[in-house]
Amino acid sequence: MDFAAQLKSSIDIVKVVGEYVRLRRVGATGRYVGLCPFHQEKTPSFNVNQTRQFFKCFGCGKGGDALNFVMEVDGLTFPEALKMLAERNGIPMPQRTEYTDANSKLRGALHDMHSIAAQLYAAALQGPQGREAREYLAKRGMNPELMEIFQLGYSDPSGQILTRRLTDERFTPEQMEASGLVRRRTEGAGYYDAFRGRLMFPIHDESGKVIAFGGRGMRDEDQPKYLNSPETPIYRKTSVLYNLHRARDGMRKHNRAVLVEGYMDVIGVYSAGVKEVVASCGTALTNPQARAMHRHADTVIVNFDPDDAGANAAERAIPLLLDESLHVKVLALGSDGTGAKLDPDEYVKRFGAEAYRAKLDSASGYFHWLADRARGRFDMRTTDGRMDAFKFLLPAVQRIPDKLERAAVVNDLAGYLGVDPGLVLEQFKRAALDRRTAAPTIRGQPPSPRPPATSPVTAIECILLNALLSSAGTRQQILPRLTVAMTSRFASHAIFDALRQMAAAGTVAFSELDARLDEPSRALLHGMVTADEMGDDAECLAQAEACLRRLEDDVRRRQLDELRTRVKAAEREGKAEEALQWFSELHRLEQEVKGE
Ligand code: UTP
Ligand code: MN
Repeated sequence: MDFAAQLKSSIDIVKVVGEYVRLRRVGATGRYVGLCPFHQEKTPSFNVNQTRQFFKCFGCGKGGDALNFVMEVDGLTFPEALKMLAERNGIPMPQRTEYTDANSKLRGALHDMHSIAAQLYAAALQGPQGREAREYLAKRGMNPELMEIFQLGYSDPSGQILTRRLTDERFTPEQMEASGLVRRRTEGAGYYDAFRGRLMFPIHDESGKVIAFGGRGMRDEDQPKYLNSPETPIYRKTSVLYNLHRARDGMRKHNRAVLVEGYMDVIGVYSAGVKEVVASCGTALTNPQARAMHRHADTVIVNFDPDDAGANAAERAIPLLLDESLHVKVLALGSDGTGAKLDPDEYVKRFGAEAYRAKLDSASGYFHWLADRARGRFDMRTTDGRMDAFKFLLPAVQRIPDKLERAAVVNDLAGYLGVDPGLVLEQFKRAALDRRTAAPTIRGQPPSPRPPATSPVTAIECILLNALLSSAGTRQQILPRLTVAMTSRFASHAIFDALRQMAAAGTVAFSELDARLDEPSRALLHGMVTADEMGDDAECLAQAEACLRRLEDDVRRRQLDELRTRVKAAEREGKAEEALQWFSELHRLEQEVKGE
């Protein structure tokens, strides 16, 4: 047996995959499902088969064994995947499984160089040359324990130490240059350290290997404030989250992630006992980063800096998170009435861990935060301004996957902004029509399919209701023929009853309908009207007519069934006269049906 086969036979794919994907067991057959880490999805189509030790996603088609999985998810080559799984499971590697292909060799060298650099920087921070850096950190309230956990370091200002060390370790100039840790001199021969005189924050991949650094200058004249590693074969900025390897257990435990902007914020929040905290490393949030969070948690609390840049970044991050079907909350620390504009790190230091945790736990849904942004941006004294504010919020609202939640948000929002719910409904319909004519794409990704409805509402009542609400002509034609028997089995029967009463009394206004209903029916109504898109009067009427025919049929079928039951019951009880009477009734109805 070769080593790969031997390795695979001694590990369990469920455990390997389970580190990256939250798996749920289905049935007793050793099958597990979860959200696919390789494509965007809202319902799990990613399967792991324990008996046969393979995974398969029915959404994107990816599949394979444990080795294929880690190669794909961590971007590893085959030998790297072997080595990683062997190390993680305490299985000794045979001597000759060293990296052989050029790609694996380079990546191996890059990993080694980063590990060496991290150790070197950390030692320098503790050594005599790190005094100034230690003082700087102490002034910022950093304790030695945190420095160790986050493997903070200091890069020597001379620009020689790391280069010399890597040369001694026999890395080639090409390897050193590819690492981004070392630069070639523009004049003359030789190399020098890329990071000099900076506080060093190692950045890890999800398995905990150092793959890059952020280096903070300690004086105002050190520009840029943070110098970050360039992209390398082991560092793809757009898919890495700072601190994910330390945060993921906490993310699973609490089913939430706290997303902050900076390295210092991560450390500050972590020190407050909130370990499920991550940051995107100095770039705008990306889809892969959102997906990486969703692999471990369902809720993300966005806690960016309380300045314009932070608010704008949060505004851009929200739709991305929603598209990944995450529940999104926003914690805005500036708005607590203290007047202080503190980032998460500063907040923890000023008000303490407990105060921060309480803030986090009380963070509200993102739309409240967005609504406040909208209020600040538009003139809320005019109807137009309020409507513009609502339009500004519409795209985010429409991304809420759950119908009822969406309805509740719309309702809330209309109230909060002082907009007439009837107008809101109009907006939704128009937006839905626009959506039909021009399919939206978010950063080049196709729109995700709608999730299956969770309410007991049937398609027919939905279509009928929307047709009735959308067109006065349809109401006039249809409502008088819509009997109570036809709608009595609807989940939304109360809404139809209200419509009938209103039509009998005069005109139908959405806001009035809304006001007539009790809370559950209102929620139902909002879920139904926001979900579907209707055409013009003629189309509405045609749809409603079709619904009506179906409902008439249903009622008649129920009547026939009931008559048949009565005939049988009367026969059984020997009541011939009665049986005959029911039978003639049944016969008449059957003829009527045939005659049509
Ligand atoms: P901040 O300027 O808010 O820094 O940038 P910070 O993390 O709060 O650090 P302190 O408290 O000022 O020391 C937030 C993040 O943006 C990225 C870094 O990832 C930083 O942590 N950034 C910032 C850069 O990449 N380059 C920069 O020049 C500045
Ligand atoms: Mn900051």
